[in-house]
Formats: sequence, C-alpha cells, structure tokens
Amino acid sequence: MDNTWPHHGSSTVGGEIHPIQYLEWYVPRLQQMRKYNLSFSGLQYAWDFETYLATNLKDVGHHHISEFPHPEQMVAERYGISAQKIVITHGATQALNIALLACLEPTSDGQKNIIAVESPAYAPVSQTPLLLNCDTIPVQRHPPADGFGPWRINKKEWLSVLQQSKVLMITPQLNPCGWDYESSDRRWIIDTCKELAIKIISDEVYIDSMKGTKDYKPFHLEGEHCISINSLTKIYGLGPIRFGWIIASKEITSNAKRAFLTFSGIMASPTIRLASAVFPHLDLAIEKIKQYREINLPILREMLARQNIVWNEPPYGVFGAFQLPNGFDSMTFVDGACAEHSVLAVPGSMFSEELNGWLRVAWSIEPVLFSEAILNLEKALISIH
Ligand SMILES: Cc1ncc(COP(=O)(O)O)c(C=O)c1O
Repeated sequence: MDNTWPHHGSSTVGGEIHPIQYLEWYVPRLQQMRKYNLSFSGLQYAWDFETYLATNLKDVGHHHISEFPHPEQMVAERYGISAQKIVITHGATQALNIALLACLEPTSDGQKNIIAVESPAYAPVSQTPLLLNCDTIPVQRHPPADGFGPWRINKKEWLSVLQQSKVLMITPQLNPCGWDYESSDRRWIIDTCKELAIKIISDEVYIDSMKGTKDYKPFHLEGEHCISINSLTKIYGLGPIRFGWIIASKEITSNAKRAFLTFSGIMASPTIRLASAVFPHLDLAIEKIKQYREINLPILREMLARQNIVWNEPPYGVFGAFQLPNGFDSMTFVDGACAEHSVLAVPGSMFSEELNGWLRVAWSIEPVLFSEAILNLEKALISIH
C-alpha cells in the first residue's frame, strides 16, 4: 500500500484523484470482523427506530416533504439557533465539500485558492479542496512536548501558511488524539483568521461529547468567518443514515444551499424520517458516552500503566492515542500482533505521516466486550515488547 496519510498539494482531477487510503485500509479490516473492535471513533449505540418512528418502518422510504418541510428546524431547536443559519447535508463529509464551495472566491488568470488544512486529519478534510480546484498547505498540531495535555500549534508556522490562504480547515477535537485546542491556541486561530479575512471551516463531528459542559464551544459562535460542521455519525452512532449539517452566517448558508441543490438535489427521505425520529432523544447517546468513559477508561488506563506506556487522556470523547513501545510501527502492529489476538485499532499513519508509531484506541463499545478487548490488546503489546 502507498502512503496511508492524507494528501496535500495541488488540485487533482480524473485519474489523478487521490485515494482515501484510510477507508481503503479500514473497510477490509472491518470486514474481517475481528472480535475486539477498538477502532470505532463513534459511539456504538443500538437506536430503537421502531419505537421512535412516527411512521411505520415499512413506509420509511416514502416522500418526507409534506410531513417534514423544514428539517433544518430540528437542528435549530437542538442547538438554539435560527434555522436560516443551517444547511442539512448527507453527512459531515458532504458538508465539507458544500461548505468549502460556499466559501471560495473567484480567482483570476488561472490562480487557485490556497487552503490551509490542519494535520493530522481525516483524509476527506485534507483532500476535499484538492477536488475543488484548490491547492492545500498543511498546518500541524503537535503532541505536547512533555507528553501531557492538549496538542499544540506553532503560531509562526501557522501564520506563514495563513498569510497565503483563503480558508482554514480544522478539526478541533482532533483525530486521532481526541484533544481539543489549548485555549490560547484557539483564540489565536480565531483572531488571526478574522484579521486576515480567512474563513474557518471547523469539522466538529466529535465535539458534542462536550455538549452541556463549560468547554462546549462550536466555532460558529465565534463570528461570521467561522463555519461549524457536524453530523449524527460519531457522537450519536448514526453514520449509516448520512445526516449532517452546516451552521454558518446567512450569506454562507445561502451559497451552501445552492451548492447542495446542485450536487444532491434533495435529501433522502429515509434519512430525514430516521433523523427526525431520534432527534428528540439524542442526549441518550451523550449519557452513554459518559457511562462508557466512567466504566471503560479505568480499564484502559490500568493496562497501559502495567505496560509502562504514557497515556495522555483527552477529557472528552470516545478515543485517544498513544505511542507504541520502542518506536514500533503501528500499521505492522495492527496487521500482525493485533490480528493474532483478534483486536482492531487504527494506526496513526492514517492521519499523518508523523504518527506512524501511534495507535488510536476507542472506548466506544459496551464494557464487558471492552474489558476483554483490552486484555487482548495487552497480549498483543506484550508480544512486541
Ligand atoms: C473528522 C471527521 N469528520 C467526518 C467524519 C465522517 O463524518 P460523516 O460520516 O458524517 O460523513 C469522520 C469519520 O471518521 C471524521 O473523523
């Protein structure tokens, strides 16, 4: 397999379109059905659609327009904002395409928009601009020097890239480490982008694990230049129904609506019906995440301490990452020792070239299976010591 981390650089078309190596690697591993799955960055939660659906399950594919003429309203109510600031999409990945299109400005004489993209990242964040005739430059978030606390930015490095850019694409609760920005880094990014007239597209699929706490601050609250993207995929465990949204200024929202209609026409009716059924109950998933943190995390913590592995635990969410002992390569580990013990976790090299010694583990599964999974991960770790 070629490099597994996201591509950066020049825009691509046709046969030059880069693969999404992460998904090409991951989907076949999921199909192996390893018994101990620590790879899910989203909550595993069995939603009871039959109880919640207003309509009979067999009618789920019927047109939704008459019953749900304004699906933005349910997002608006949950987040306490005007429905005019919302665009519904098929998942956060599509929201990234639509939001970027809505932000771009015409260029002259074959010039291209330059987009600063945070790294590490979920590959579609980095590679969306390349498909939309933009060039990208990565800006890094680095592990903390002393091993503990938020991952940090180098402001000098970021400034030199931002000065050339039209848009910045970020993922505040970062994949694969699960850490949000250190507060002065966040403030600097917001203020600097405002000064330089740069729009920020913030992929926030993980931040609702903070909802209801003092730390919950979606970027759209930080000014007209900030755009939030979210979906039901991760925190709510509903990736298969493909329901996402963009929250932005009215101007960006109006551009985004036109882009959505051009690309997708209309939202899928099963998606709207299923999303409407669960929306009033979404806090159940946030509660479940709290429970899983309380029960599962001590088991992970203790195992890593037994193996003398440094563990920098993020305060929210369902995943984190650690460095394997002796600089061991995590791809080799997952496909070798982990596979032997039927464990699946995600190599850091899926998110950035620098993270090939890191392993992402998630505590998103029910506790009995999780504790067995951790014992098996421990066996795999012992075998490479
Ligand atoms: C940062 C990030 N954004 C978006 C997604 C996918 O979201 P969706 O399923 O809503 O397209 C992922 C999936 O791994 C992700 O890590």
